Amino acid sequence: MHDFHYQGSQLHVEGMSVAALARKYGTPLYIYSQATLTRRHRELNQAMAPVEHLVCFAVKSNSNQSVLRLLAGLGSGFDIVSGGELQRVLAAGGDPRRCVFAGVGKTEAEIQFALQQGVYSFNVESEPELQRINAVARRLKKIAPVAVRLNPNVDARTHAKITTGTYENKFGVAFEEIPGVYGRAARLPHLRLRGVQMHIGSQLTEVAPFAQAVKKVAPLVAQLQARHGIEFFSIGGGIGIVYRDALASGQPAWWRGAGKKFITPQQYAAALLPALRSLGVKILMEPGRYISGNAGILVTRVEYVKRTGHKNFVIVDGAMNDLIRPAFYDAYHEIVPVTKLGGARIASDVVGPVCESGDYFCQDRPLPRVREGDYLALLSAGAYGFVMASNYNTRALAAEVMVHGRKAALVRARQPIPAIWSGETVAPWLK
Ligand code: LLP
Repeated sequence: MHDFHYQGSQLHVEGMSVAALARKYGTPLYIYSQATLTRRHRELNQAMAPVEHLVCFAVKSNSNQSVLRLLAGLGSGFDIVSGGELQRVLAAGGDPRRCVFAGVGKTEAEIQFALQQGVYSFNVESEPELQRINAVARRLKKIAPVAVRLNPNVDARTHAKITTGTYENKFGVAFEEIPGVYGRAARLPHLRLRGVQMHIGSQLTEVAPFAQAVKKVAPLVAQLQARHGIEFFSIGGGIGIVYRDALASGQPAWWRGAGKKFITPQQYAAALLPALRSLGVKILMEPGRYISGNAGILVTRVEYVKRTGHKNFVIVDGAMNDLIRPAFYDAYHEIVPVTKLGGARIASDVVGPVCESGDYFCQDRPLPRVREGDYLALLSAGAYGFVMASNYNTRALAAEVMVHGRKAALVRARQPIPAIWSGETVAPWLK
């Protein structure tokens, strides 16, 4: 997280003081670094430059309009999973012809909308879906570009809830069944078999499973190209990022010395390019977390410090409804004080106000002693942070700020409380 660092005692995002932003916009507050987003996108593009490729940013990881506009401006494609995400991309000025539409449950309305917008490809997850896309395309007198998502049955060695490439989960079509599925799909007149796709999981911290999957699938890709003339192979997303000691990642030597597991774009490219190059097809990637994860933080204010006989609870104004990853995946997010604090550390549970025992950001973690009114930053919160937020406990969706050097802009206003129930009505017989 090069762009997140202390200047003196103050945490900064690029040239902006986090405390000043928190005072101005209130908390809980998401802050994104434009420089990090840009660098990550460029680094991956550069590493993959030896092959014709397209980076399709996984919109599900962070769909703020400013984030999408920035990436669209860098020439990015987008990996979308709903009609809603396609509308967001269009609203942000993204190019539908650079969009791939994934997901196991596409509705007819979504398929129709995506066809009318001219997406690059539907990444199809089942044979019934192929039939449905063919039927919608027939009705619209169009030819739908499709790729089937193949499940390589490779263990991504990541968290069970974010492993997708084994036969234990709902995604894709089994590797062995792919030739038959393409053979049948080729007979559906309103489909064009444009590519093949896979995605083995998220937050992978080693390149080996990626390399194993590519190696396993490459001969099949060559076969599909020869038989059906496919033009692309999407190798999915999943490149993991550093969550522990994330601030120190600005100092590569120290970071490597500490034996942290992470993947650089150079390692990723080095491991995959040899097999990909010889295929001679266009390579698509669908990174989400790699681009947005280390680009964002969630800033929260300490409301109370509650010491019990057993615990030191730091009760903050952010909660699981703002960032669900710790509660949902037991995910680790580094927590640092926005104004540096000295002194001894104390084992602390940082918890939110939501009425759930699972509403914690960390448990028994040695943290500096904080006081009411202090700000804390949860690092690496740019991916699967705001996008997974909810209104649970009638808590407003947080505000979001984009930083660019010494400039900052509010890119999503804090949700006004009455907006939370604005779509609700009282049933007429209750009036
Ligand atoms: N492509 C496909 C088909 C996917 O299913 C996903 C993520 C991606 C690309 C992007 O993966 P990434 O590069 O971001 O790892 N909410 C979870 C992560 C869920 C990932 C779902 N699929 C978390 O907070 O860790």
